[in-house]
Amino acid sequence: MTNKRLGIGFIGSGFIARFHIKSFIGVRDADVRGVWSPNRQNADDAAALARSIRVGDAQGFNSIEEMVASPDIDALWLCGPNHRRIENLEAIVNALKAGKGSLVGIAIEKPLARNVAEARRVVELVEESGLLHGYLEDQLFEPAVVRGREILWRRAAALTGRPYLARCAEEHSGPHMPWFWQGELGGGGVLNDMMCHSVEVARLLLTDPTKPRHSIRPTKVSATIASLKWSRPEYADLLQQMMGQEVDYRARPSEDFARATISYVDDAGHPLIAELTASWSFVGAGLRLTSELLGPEYSLSISSLDTSLKLFLSRRVQGQSGEDLVEKQNAEQGLMPVVASEATEYGYEDENRYFVNCFLDHKQPEVNCYDGLEVTQLLMTAYKSAEEERTIAFDPKEVENFIPAVARGTWKP
Ligand SMILES: NC(=O)c1ccc[n+]([C@@H]2O[C@H](COP(=O)([O-])OP(=O)(O)OC[C@H]3O[C@@H](n4cnc5c(N)ncnc54)[C@H](O)[C@@H]3O)[C@@H](O)[C@H]2O)c1
Repeated sequence: MTNKRLGIGFIGSGFIARFHIKSFIGVRDADVRGVWSPNRQNADDAAALARSIRVGDAQGFNSIEEMVASPDIDALWLCGPNHRRIENLEAIVNALKAGKGSLVGIAIEKPLARNVAEARRVVELVEESGLLHGYLEDQLFEPAVVRGREILWRRAAALTGRPYLARCAEEHSGPHMPWFWQGELGGGGVLNDMMCHSVEVARLLLTDPTKPRHSIRPTKVSATIASLKWSRPEYADLLQQMMGQEVDYRARPSEDFARATISYVDDAGHPLIAELTASWSFVGAGLRLTSELLGPEYSLSISSLDTSLKLFLSRRVQGQSGEDLVEKQNAEQGLMPVVASEATEYGYEDENRYFVNCFLDHKQPEVNCYDGLEVTQLLMTAYKSAEEERTIAFDPKEVENFIPAVARGTWKP
């Protein structure tokens, strides 16, 4: 594919597809050329967004098969809801097998799947397809994470010893669409939705950049889940008003808070710890991503709300509510942080540049579906630990068929 540009098709036209599309402003050698979503108007609107910001001459498509068949499309970015992951992937692989088109790669959003059995099926399908595959974990590409890790390992760890503790959290006040709030559709609550990010960021920070991912190995997991806010009767009612009848947190809540401790061991036998928090019950200016890395003579800290740009809006500024300052924004007045370029700072731009380059070079991305499978195994072990209220030795076989009570609709907090 030398001298060629990568033509990209999106499956899904919602929140994350739009974030990716915007990030392509900072990615060379690729064009957004197609969008498929069950609602054709939404697909057309997302395609129009791509054209309007000049990241590609994108068109809406009528089906996944049609998009696979298009000679303009070389790779797909799979951005549908979690409960459609397998059917989306089956449609792609069946179209390829039927000779309807050819692709070079596929990039799949987090979480890879709702549980381990589904994550295995994802891996099986991508292997069957022969496509290069990427796992879309944007936070591994956050410039602050990448740069901070590089400097600490090169300057401090090299002289004084490796880091031993990573703390990562992702917190906001709750997702934007009803399906996230329904355990069965999401595969769980905030643990499955957001702790997948923190697991990977903590692991990346703790891994020696000169060594492979498996140079550190998870040994045990201890976790707690809770419904701190959204099953309170007044908030359960509010949530139902906002999200619709099917979101009933009096009867079927999902966890809105989760914490986990994952113990790792490195290749020299040193114990390492990752402390992870995920919350949909955090109220601050908006989405807060925090990371810390601690070693014997140094530490790193990152907070996405610690922005260089802050605005003050007096009480007389009473405009409409929006998300124009920061993702999952909670206020429009007072002293507000602004993330000046969210697609860059959350990592989407560098993520998409990386996968585009891998696919153009016919190189298997290092961040791929096998990583997504292992993250799922760790998340399911965390759910099991929370349900059984004990620390659990990490053994993927133990969670092969595990479905969290939250996803079964039987969780009683
Ligand atoms: N990396 C991140 O930080 C991040 C952030 C948000 C969402 N995500 C992930 O991206 C995925 C989509 O989330 P979102 O926030 O865009 O959700 P969303 O609900 O905003 O958008 C989902 C899109 O999928 C479409 N859709 C509906 N049924 C479908 C089907 N059968 N097949 C394919 N598409 C279908 C919808 O029309 C919509 O366009 C999820 O897996 C989510 O976990 C990742």
